[in-house]
Amino acid sequence: MACPKDYGTDEERRAYINSHMSQLHPVMKKLRELMETHPRGFLISSPNTAMILSNVLQLAGVKKCIEVGVFTGYSSLAWALSIPQDGKVVACDISTEFTDIGKPFWKEAGVDNKIDLRIAPAVDTLQSLIDAGESGTFDFIYVDGDKLNADVIYELSLKLLRTNGIIAFDNSFMHGYLLKPEEEDERQDVPVIRKLNVKIQQDPRVTAVMLDVGDGVYMCRKN
Ligand SMILES: C[S@@+](CC[C@H](N)C(=O)[O-])C[C@H]1O[C@@H](n2cnc3c(N)ncnc32)[C@H](O)[C@@H]1O
Repeated sequence: MACPKDYGTDEERRAYINSHMSQLHPVMKKLRELMETHPRGFLISSPNTAMILSNVLQLAGVKKCIEVGVFTGYSSLAWALSIPQDGKVVACDISTEFTDIGKPFWKEAGVDNKIDLRIAPAVDTLQSLIDAGESGTFDFIYVDGDKLNADVIYELSLKLLRTNGIIAFDNSFMHGYLLKPEEEDERQDVPVIRKLNVKIQQDPRVTAVMLDVGDGVYMCRKN
């Protein structure tokens, strides 16, 4: 029977949904708790984004991943925990200021051996992987940083992914900025993501769907 009334506000619905997720891995929980009081803690991926994508990684038997935008390593940790012992996460960031906070957590969870941290602009790291002959060998790429270069990152990622590999863009909803008229864009990265979202939607190289998780995750499977 149809629900006679649209119960609850958006916030109440989200709170209910978020409170019905399995327990986090204890080390991920500890890192989240630490970041709750950190001035830039808002940058960390949402728990449901990490959980749903971790399920995808396990379902798809993912072994080789790339993360663009490590920060304190929460999502890198999620991927490392979801892949086998001989799997790897190439973790890209431009600064060690925050990755240094995350490293001991990777060690505590026993997955530091799976994470290959590269401190350089992500575009350079992705290009270096292509130059090293790793095109077509990655199973999963998570993009959560360097929005201004999102289109270049998308193109390089499509080279690095195998057929049926997945690229997932976090913040593809840009906190709602994309719903405002183009001429009112205040941030430099909004038009970049606005254009990229249209390009992805029309791109025959991928099958893409935007998930209503966190701030929107554009999940694209390479055809
Ligand atoms: C939103 S945070 C990532 C959050 C992380 N995925 C998590 O779940 O905790 C964005 C990160 O992207 C990094 N970043 C910014 N520009 C970058 C670039 N050009 N190449 C690589 N990383 C970059 C920032 O240093 C920052 O740590």
